Order: sequence, then C-alpha cells, then structure tokens
Amino acid sequence: MIDGRTRTCGLIGNPVEHTMSPAIHNTLAQAMGENLVYVPFPVPQGHLEEAVKGAWALQLSGLNVTVPYKSQVIPFLRELDPLAEKIGAVNTLVRTEDGFKGYNTDMPGLYRAMCRDGVSIEGERVLLLGAGGVARAVAILLLEKNAREIVLLNRTPEKAEQIAAEVNALAGRQLARALALSDYVTLPERERYLAIQATSVGMFPHVEDAPLEDPDFYRRVHTGYDLIFNPAKTKFMSLVEAGGGRACNGLKMLLYQGVIAYELWTGATVGRKLEETAYQAMKQAMGI
Ligand code: ATR
Repeated sequence: MIDGRTRTCGLIGNPVEHTMSPAIHNTLAQAMGENLVYVPFPVPQGHLEEAVKGAWALQLSGLNVTVPYKSQVIPFLRELDPLAEKIGAVNTLVRTEDGFKGYNTDMPGLYRAMCRDGVSIEGERVLLLGAGGVARAVAILLLEKNAREIVLLNRTPEKAEQIAAEVNALAGRQLARALALSDYVTLPERERYLAIQATSVGMFPHVEDAPLEDPDFYRRVHTGYDLIFNPAKTKFMSLVEAGGGRACNGLKMLLYQGVIAYELWTGATVGRKLEETAYQAMKQAMGI
C-alpha cells in the first residue's frame, strides 16, 4: 500500500519500457515488508543532469541507470565506488547525505550468478568473447577474482588489445592477451576453458547467430557463460552443449544486479528463498 512514508527507487535510461527491474524490486519490497516502490523514469537525451538533481531533490532513495547513461552519469555523482570507477560504468545510485554514490552491480551480479551456477573464476583459464563496454567490465571482474589467464577474442582485435593492455596495467603482469576470433586455433588444443560470451551476437531477434560457429572452438570449452538472456538459450549455448560443455545464460546476472542494488538501497540481505521468488517474478514478467 503506497502511503505518505513510501520510499521511491527507480530506473533512469532511454528507453526503459522493456525493463524487468520493477518485477525484481517490487517483488522483493513486497516480500520483505519494505515500504518502497520502484518506477521506471525515461530520461530524454540532454536531461540527465537535471534528472539526477531532481531525483535528489525528490528524496529518491536510489536509482538504477541503464543505456545510454551508465558512463555519462558519473560526473553528476558525489562519490564513486572503486569497482565502478575501475569499470567506468555505474548502474546503481545510492542516496548519501550530500548526493548520490555510484556503484556497479552488473559485475558483482555476474559474479554472484556464477557462484550460484557453480562456475568459478579463480585459477581458471578464460576465453572472453567481445571487446565492448560489457566485455571490458567482465575483464576487470576476471582480474579481481584471480583468473589464471584471460584471452580476449574479438572481431576487431585492436579493441581486444586495448582492453588486454588496460587489464595488464592494472594487474602489473601479463594476465590478458588478445586474439582475432578466428585465431582461437592458436590456443593449445589440450586446454579446456571457461568461455564468457560478452558480444551482442545472438541476441533476439538474431537468435541463429553466434560469434563463432566452428565446433573446433567449442571442443575447448568446458563451460560457456552467455551474458545474453533473450533468448534464454542462445546459439552459443547450444554450440557449447554440442561440444560437451555446460552452458548458462545471463538471466541470473540480470537478477543479481537487481538483488545487489536492492541490498545497497535497503541495507537488507536478500536470502536464497527470496532470490528465487524474485527470479520467478522476473521470468514471469518476461513471459518465460
Ligand atoms: P556493449 O556495450 O554491449 O559491450 P558494444 O560496445 O557495442 O556493446 O560491443 C559489442 C561487442 O559485440 C563488440 O565486441 C563487437 O565486436 P567489434 O568490437 O568487432 O565491433 C561485438 N559484435 C557485434 N556484432 C558482431 C558480429 N556480427 N560479429 C562479431 N562480433 C560482433
């Protein structure tokens, strides 16, 4: 029941119509007895600063930030969490005494999702497909969580090289290297890798596409983690399974970036049972 004490959180982005976040947050608030509502706010280009200031003035407790504002929002924040600073992208704002503090819960969300799926990063040799903003963030997560080796594979190898150089500078050693997609053939044949799919290839409606089609690539993969959640089973995942590996999608990452944001806004810890409740609500909102 909304009353005079209801706290508001929300999402700023453009567009925001297809977000699943209200299903996650409103389900959690209801289940936990928190007097809080979560609302999407479309913010037209050129109005981001006003939106952040207005949200502050309206006493909003927190915001999520989505495309295209995840980096653009940073100058309007009072404080930045160190991980968000390294990644250079913020998806969660938390109200503090004198402004909003920016966090990135996408990568901690991916990490929690991988933990729940029983996929570990520490000590792993990882093939990271892609070199866009998402792949760059994943590369930093892999560094933070002590992957043994990171091989960045991208259609445009120069972009992968740039990320590898950044990661190596942060690591202080040669942790990451870059290859063109087709150069996976130069990887040692006996190795089995965790492959993280961070390109946009295979996303609805292009469900028949995968960044690599060659079965020889997939034979090297023990686990394939696709960050795409629509479709729930991508071509990449089917190819991983055909090669004898285990495949996961990005649905749980989506859930946990929300769960972690909710925990930051409320100070509550969302238990396993409520995680599951929110997961079901999110999938229902998606029609799956
Ligand atoms: P995001 O912010 O989601 O990471 P992005 O920065 O546009 O989005 O990055 C998209 C990624 O998907 C890039 O790695 C891109 O490869 P390029 O760097 O070569 O552009 C990859 N990608 C997109 N379409 C692709 C395609 N048809 N084949 C292979 N890779 C593709």
